Amino acid sequence: MATALHAAPPALPPCDYRPRRYTGPSRSEVLALRRRYAHPSLFAFYREPLLVVEGHMQYLFDETGRRYLDLFAGIATVACGHSHPTVVARVQDQVATLQHASSIYLHPNLALLAARVAAKFPPGLDVTYFVNSGSEANDLAVLMARLFTGNADIIALRNGYHGGSPTAMTFTGISTWKFPVPQSTPVQHAVCPDPYRSPFGGTPEAIASQSAEDIRDLIRRATPGRIAAFIAEPVQGVGGVTYGAPNYLREAYAIVREHGGLCIADEVQTGFARTGEHFWGFEHFGVVPDVVTMAKGIGNGMPLAAVTTRREIADALAQRLHFNTFGGNPVATAAGLAVLDVIEQDGLQENAHAVGGRLKAGLADLMNRHRLIGDVRGIGLMLGIELVRDRVTKEPATAETLDVLERLRELGVLVGKGGLDSNVLRIKPPLCLTADDADFAVEAIDYALSRVAVP
Ligand SMILES: Cc1ncc(COP(=O)(O)O)c(C=O)c1O
Repeated sequence: MATALHAAPPALPPCDYRPRRYTGPSRSEVLALRRRYAHPSLFAFYREPLLVVEGHMQYLFDETGRRYLDLFAGIATVACGHSHPTVVARVQDQVATLQHASSIYLHPNLALLAARVAAKFPPGLDVTYFVNSGSEANDLAVLMARLFTGNADIIALRNGYHGGSPTAMTFTGISTWKFPVPQSTPVQHAVCPDPYRSPFGGTPEAIASQSAEDIRDLIRRATPGRIAAFIAEPVQGVGGVTYGAPNYLREAYAIVREHGGLCIADEVQTGFARTGEHFWGFEHFGVVPDVVTMAKGIGNGMPLAAVTTRREIADALAQRLHFNTFGGNPVATAAGLAVLDVIEQDGLQENAHAVGGRLKAGLADLMNRHRLIGDVRGIGLMLGIELVRDRVTKEPATAETLDVLERLRELGVLVGKGGLDSNVLRIKPPLCLTADDADFAVEAIDYALSRVAVP
C-alpha cells in the first residue's frame, strides 16, 4: 500500500467566472475584530482562518480572488450553488417588494411553499410550520409529538446531532456538542446503527436489528413504557456520515410505534435531494416518518427551516397560541420556492446521484493506496472518509485529519470534518458539482493523503 508521490499538485478544473475586486477590510483586520468582539465560542477552520468574500456555484473566493472548490457548502446548506442566479433574482425581487409583515397577514409565498413541500412527501405528510433554523424545527417537532401523544420521553441516537438550542442539544448524542447543564427533556440515547464502530457484531443487517432492539430495551428500562417520539437523522451528518443497514429504520420505527411514539426524521442535512436517488433521506430506508424536520438546503443559505407533519399531529399545537416572528418570512420563502424550482430545472437530484456515485467510487479506490482510510461511506453527495491510524484497532487519526484539511486547503479544496473524534472528512458540496470537480477532488485528496505522516 505504498503511496507514490505525485510530481505536481492537481489543478482545479477551469472556470470562466471572475470574482469582483475585494475592497473590504483585510483578513488580519477581520480576524482581529472577530477575536475582539465576536463571541469566543465561534470557531474557525484552519490554522490561518480563511476569509471568504464571494461565491459562484460550487466555488468560493478569498479576498485575493483565489478560487476554492467548496466540498462543504456552508455545512451541507448551499444546495443549488453559491449565489445561484435564479435564487438571487427571486430573493432580490422579494426584498424590493416586501421584506416582512409576519404570518398574521396572508402572503402567497408561505402558502405556496407549504403546498410545494407537501407535494414532495407521501400522502398525509402535508402540513408545514416554517421556522428559521434546524434547532427550532426539532424543538417544535418534539413539542408537537409530546402534545399529540401525551407522553414525555424521547429516544434519540448516540452520535446524532440535532442542534444547539437547549432542547435540541438534549437530543444530540455527541459529547463535544453538549454542555454540563441540567437537561430539560427526558431523553435516552440508543446505540448508533452504523456498523463501522458498533458494539454489536455480525452483518450490517444483524447490527441494525440489534441496534433497533436496543430501543425496545431502553423504553422498557428507562422510560414509563410509553414514549413521545424517536428522533433520528437517516444519515448522521455531524456524527461523520453514519447510518445503519436498510432494515434499521424500518425495525426501529416499528418498535417506537408499538410504544406509542411518533417517528421524527431529522432531514436537516439529508433532505432536498442531497442523497441523490431520493429527495429525502428516509426514502432510502423504506419508511414513512410521522414528522419531518428540514433546514439548510431548503433555503440555499437563507434562514429557513420547517416541520412537516400530519394534520392531526399539527392540530395538537393549535390548542394554544404559538408564534414565530420570522417563520415563513416572504424573503426566506421566496428562496425556498426558488430552491425547489432550481433542483428540478438544473436536475440536481440526478446530478447528486450520478456525481456522488462517481466521487464515492473514486474515494473507495483510494483505500487501496492509503492505509489511513478506514472507511468510505455515504449516499449521493453526502460522503464521509473515516481516517484511522490502524485499520484493526480503528484508532482515530484526529491529528492526521486536521493535516489533510490544511493540505487540501493549500490545493484549493475545502472539506468538512466530523465524528466524535473529528477524524472523518465530510464531503457535502453544492449539488451542482460536476464530474470534473469530482475527479479533481479525488486527485487532491490522494495528493494530500500522500503527504500526511502516518504513524
Ligand atoms: C441534522 C441536523 N439537525 C439539526 C441541526 C441544527 O440546525 P441549525 O444549526 O440550523 O439550528 C443541524 C445543524 O448542523 C443538523 O446537522
